[in-house]
Amino acid sequence: MIPEEGVLARIPEIRDPRLDKLYLECTKIKMREVEQKAPAAFEILRDIFDLEGGITLDVACGCGTYSHALAKKFPNINVIGLDSYPEAISVAKQFYPNGETPNLRFEVGDVYDMSDYRKQAHLVTCLASLHHFDDLEGALQQIHEVSKDGGLLYFTDLDRRHVLRFPGKIRLPSGVAVQEGEFFYHALSRGKDEHFVRFLLQNEILGNGDPNGEDAIENHLEVFSIMSYIAAYIPSEIEGALRNTGYKGIEIFPCNGGATFAGYARRG
Ligand SMILES: C[S@@+](CC[C@H](N)C(=O)[O-])C[C@H]1O[C@@H](n2cnc3c(N)ncnc32)[C@H](O)[C@@H]1O
Repeated sequence: MIPEEGVLARIPEIRDPRLDKLYLECTKIKMREVEQKAPAAFEILRDIFDLEGGITLDVACGCGTYSHALAKKFPNINVIGLDSYPEAISVAKQFYPNGETPNLRFEVGDVYDMSDYRKQAHLVTCLASLHHFDDLEGALQQIHEVSKDGGLLYFTDLDRRHVLRFPGKIRLPSGVAVQEGEFFYHALSRGKDEHFVRFLLQNEILGNGDPNGEDAIENHLEVFSIMSYIAAYIPSEIEGALRNTGYKGIEIFPCNGGATFAGYARRG
């Protein structure tokens, strides 16, 4: 685990202002990718849940692409996208204005503090984000609290067994040397993700080899790995935490050859 205090203290030093501009560019790329695949990803919800009416909370929604896809695919549900990273929410609002999708809105919100929504959500989605929660049970307890009785939680995430460690150090364009994990912790704490790192690699921002060659792909995988290893789980850990939290009817199934998983559970 990365020593949090030391990393946080170094954020002003390792922060590179170019990253914020690049983040927006990266986000646009990601949005285009996700917009194509999201409707199919949500098809399963029709089979397992009655999607008539009710509030859906998309917890840790990032820039809101999946929240938007949900609201568009199911116009009779009201979707609220929550994320603790204010800049992600501001991008979400900019990209998906409320007037265009009246059943969608975004708010800054922390998974560990969602008391405003107690017992309000018919459906909670938490997509590609469980690995950000170092107190998994604490987060699931909050998610359980915001669900109505019988409410459904639908989640996806990556499987820790497919996560490798990034072996070395990197040097930011500013010349600051970053220890293993530091930059990525910083990136995570600000809501950036693997697409962002890929974008940085493609643009040689991390100076990690030929952006068009095999090295870049390898590096991307390694870089992605350190981000993920910070707090990625395996399905049995998720299942145990869901049980301890009081969830019932838990189903978890592998996707992408086991690299990721998806699942659902109901508030008992
Ligand atoms: C990999 S992104 C996934 C975003 C989105 N669900 C998607 O699939 O595109 C993970 C998100 O978790 C958010 N996050 C991390 N910790 C959080 C917390 N404690 N509360 C709410 N959101 C959090 C980050 O800001 C980031 O936007």
